[in-house]
Amino acid sequence: MRKPVIAGNWKMFKTSGEAASFVEKLRPLVAHSDHCEVVVAPPFTALRAAADAARGSNIRIAAQDMHWAKEGAHTGDISAAMLEDAGATLVILGHSERRHDHGETDEEVNHKLKAALAAGLGPVVCVGETLAEREAGETRSVLERQFRQGFAALTAADFSRIIIAYEPVWAIGTGRTATPEMAEESHRFIRELAGAGFGRTEAAAVRILYGGSVKPENIAGLMTEEDIDGALVGGASLQVESFAAIVNYKRATTR
Ligand code: PGA
Repeated sequence: MRKPVIAGNWKMFKTSGEAASFVEKLRPLVAHSDHCEVVVAPPFTALRAAADAARGSNIRIAAQDMHWAKEGAHTGDISAAMLEDAGATLVILGHSERRHDHGETDEEVNHKLKAALAAGLGPVVCVGETLAEREAGETRSVLERQFRQGFAALTAADFSRIIIAYEPVWAIGTGRTATPEMAEESHRFIRELAGAGFGRTEAAAVRILYGGSVKPENIAGLMTEEDIDGALVGGASLQVESFAAIVNYKRATTR
């Protein structure tokens, strides 16, 4: 059984005070949400405040990016050890906004991924096609390239520590969600790639999250799909109530 993960990616929102008060309000709302893992990803400057506010709870803290070097002359960058020192146990890698805003390549994602694993951080690796790529019928080849290059030279044991997020770029922040069926098709394909690359056991175990305009209204439908194991939520993770409603999709639907 794959335990779902609901992760909030705050992007460049929230000061440390705002992050702490969000986590304090979230704690009681998700304290009994044992059906899934709950993660929030504040900006670097709010990691420590969020981690302190989450101490002793079931809320885990993720960073949004990291450098692959242990330390060095890399102005503006952050290392895995610094993230851990600030209280993060997970790190999002290869988000499409990093790829777009900072020209991040699959090779760089691979370097970061190896460094995160070596440091003991749990990576959440993002893949996904742009609108132009989807319209050109290239969705599968893009996912395959991102998968092969992003996950190059990893062992099956390494792979078993990774969470994947499928985020079609055209669905991020646009209000245009992929239908559950569309998402499922890509998730199933990614699971096939995992099987070919790392074996059937790893493929059956890897959690693949969907990201792109996930909201309280569409999470339950997405979660009915066999290969969708949770969500990476941007905009709707910024308000405690909507994020908690997404985490608790199960209670809402079974009531
Ligand atoms: P969104 O962002 O939910 O605002 O579309 C998702 C993401 O970028 O992770």
